[in-house]
Amino acid sequence: MKHLISPLDLSMDELDDILTLGQNIMENPERFSHVCDGKKLATLFYEPSTRTRLSFEAAMLNLGGSVLGFSSADSSSAAKGESVADTIRVISSYADICAMRHPKEGAPTVAAMHSRIPVINAGDGGHNHPTQTLTDLITIKTLMGRMDNMTVGMCGDLKFGRTVHSLINALVRYLNVRFILISPTELRIPDYLRQEVLIDGGIDFIETNELEKYMPELDILYMTRVQRERFFNEEDYIRLKDSFILDAAKMRYAKKDMYVLHPLPRVNEISTEVDNDPRAVYFKQAEYGVYVRMALIMTLLGLTE
Ligand code: CP
Repeated sequence: MKHLISPLDLSMDELDDILTLGQNIMENPERFSHVCDGKKLATLFYEPSTRTRLSFEAAMLNLGGSVLGFSSADSSSAAKGESVADTIRVISSYADICAMRHPKEGAPTVAAMHSRIPVINAGDGGHNHPTQTLTDLITIKTLMGRMDNMTVGMCGDLKFGRTVHSLINALVRYLNVRFILISPTELRIPDYLRQEVLIDGGIDFIETNELEKYMPELDILYMTRVQRERFFNEEDYIRLKDSFILDAAKMRYAKKDMYVLHPLPRVNEISTEVDNDPRAVYFKQAEYGVYVRMALIMTLLGLTE
């Protein structure tokens, strides 16, 4: 049985198969509408979510399956002190597969150790968010037609942003991907990512706090939110939250074929005036998340069309 805890749990071949299947589903969703008849997905969300939980649920419903679960720790027996290990032991007899979001790094790994069904990490603290990465990759593959030879700008909270950490880990596996990491000094990528993944991997990258300067070089701009919930100190959050705001004036520096991605939710970091720019693809990206999660559910359950 396979779980998905980190993007690196998938080999390059497995990843490519999931993205290709996701694209096939995108083109002919009705062909897949009974693949999961009789199967159940449990969504165990100990932390708020709109896209991830609902796109997982939509994915399973689109495949003909059913969903059950909880959307906050408060509405589960976690509020009474039940451990993740005990919860997953029980859920293993209620569902065929589960997606778990948890504020603590490593919680889905603990769940996987005690589970009899595939566990999908739907985001653990500031650590990983592998299904957001699948969403990002299918968006890049579908819109750009390639995953290599590009300059990717990542902007915002690169320290706590689990989507950034997962996406860097995934993109370094492709050829000639260069990173421009744009953030306030306090919100730069964690040391382990800089040293073990980028420097040790011989990856070309720049860390900077200048967005406009590097805009003309970018093929992808991946904007992220400064996450209030990860700060220990409200003053720091208020000081840093509006460090970078992408607006129409800054978009004039960008290539005509650059794409702006964002895992969402957005707060202030992309002005709504950018939404109608054809290069702004973050809502399309959220839509693609359903198709790639359909492909992932099928793959982890060992189901074919
Ligand atoms: N991108 C993402 O994880 O969004 P949600 O927090 O709404 O699930």
